[in-house]
Amino acid sequence: MESLQVVILAAGEATRFKSKINKVMHPLCGRPMIDYVVDLARSMKPKKICIVVGNDKERLQEHFKGQKEILFAHQKERLGTAHAVQVGLQTLKPQGGKILILNGDVPLLQKNTLQELLKKSNVSPLVLLTAIATQPYGYGRIIRDAEGKLVDIIEELNATETERQINEINAGIYIIDNNWLKGSLNKISKDPIKKEFYFTKLVSLAHAEGWNANAHLVREFYEILGANTRTELVYLEQWLQQKIILRHLAAGVTIQNPQTTYIESSVRIHPDSFLETSVRLSGNTQIGEGSLIETGCVIKNSKIGNQVQLKAYSYLEDAVIGAESVIGPFARIRPGTKLANHVRIGNFVELKKSKIGKGSKANHLSYIGDAVIGSNVNIGAGTITCNYDGKKKSSTHIADNVFIGSDTQLIAPVRIGKGAYVGAGTTVTKNVPAGTLTVSRVEQKSLKRKK
Ligand code: UD1
Ligand code: CA
Repeated sequence: MESLQVVILAAGEATRFKSKINKVMHPLCGRPMIDYVVDLARSMKPKKICIVVGNDKERLQEHFKGQKEILFAHQKERLGTAHAVQVGLQTLKPQGGKILILNGDVPLLQKNTLQELLKKSNVSPLVLLTAIATQPYGYGRIIRDAEGKLVDIIEELNATETERQINEINAGIYIIDNNWLKGSLNKISKDPIKKEFYFTKLVSLAHAEGWNANAHLVREFYEILGANTRTELVYLEQWLQQKIILRHLAAGVTIQNPQTTYIESSVRIHPDSFLETSVRLSGNTQIGEGSLIETGCVIKNSKIGNQVQLKAYSYLEDAVIGAESVIGPFARIRPGTKLANHVRIGNFVELKKSKIGKGSKANHLSYIGDAVIGSNVNIGAGTITCNYDGKKKSSTHIADNVFIGSDTQLIAPVRIGKGAYVGAGTTVTKNVPAGTLTVSRVEQKSLKRKK
């Protein structure tokens, strides 16, 4: 098979996005649009991939840092799609083979469509994807002769009233024989109206040489949808969301209100879990079997075990929750938290970088940070680990079967021994030996009131 190299066009100015950030770096279901295109490009096993960028080049380079097969070409001046491809080829320096041209802002294109296009490229040195549009406005129109052969592509700006009626449009995705491409790109002249070098003119060049480019019609229009505006991006996002949600429903997850549920494609959910309305699951999140995620929960990069109950409005990030635990409502579980099975974390409890053992509870209004807590520990309401002295963080260790009374402050670093009992309102400044009762209270007095 002939070698394939990919040029991804991403030097558009994205004026309609009104953004300082390169359009292709805007997220679609949590991933920059360009990632979808690069993944697709990779799936075609090319020798190299070159992304043609204009402004905001550094952001893209940083994003793909260390990925050697991805090269960057800088199109300093936006002189049109033909010029952009030329800039890309100067970086790739391909010898023979084929060039696949993709658009950085067309993220939903499917691999099998490209494979079909690749097959057609064995028949013609220039093949392109077309689609039938109900609203062809803005796209280049495909001009065919009486026999249905491709003779030209006319851009919206250059089209006559009759040409504008044509609803077969150019998707902007091409596979071209590299040797022919090299000899042809510099034959394209600047368009007198848009003052750009149109890549699409290659079709009429081929026709003038006495042969025809070959078109491949996409089966589903969504594949070639681009995000030229934020409205279009939302449209793509909704489309992708629907696909993700249908996949989970089919796999045995109940999603009570799909319209308000957001799930990124990287998320995994086991069967018989139940998502109430307005749930947001992102990143590398996994949810076990039979878990209940109530309204308003936000879960990022977290692993939730089987039969967990996450009560309403809890916020979890980079955390691990053991099986059959009950969390929330209104719990905040911050990065580095690891809960064993059967843990109970109640309302207005914040956990950070803490390990909590089996069967332990912190049911109300607590802050637990940098702590290691054993099993069957009871943390009373309002308990605070004072882990920060203004300069450094220190840790709190609480052994198994400890009872911490309400409104206790644990001044870290500090250790509470096995089975100890700390009375309510205690300020713990020294280690507590196992099995003891610790209190630090001013004796209660009741004085006579003056009349
Ligand atoms: C282009 C096609 C049109 C097709 C449409 C599909 C041309 C002349 N027209 O039109 O037939 O229907 O795509 O979406 O090719 N870009 C650069 N550098 C440039 C110009 C563009 O990198 O100098 C990139 C853009 O970032 C974008 C792609 O090329 O990813 C297409 O450019 P765009 O301006 O969107 O072309 P259209 O006018 O939409
Ligand atoms: Ca476009």
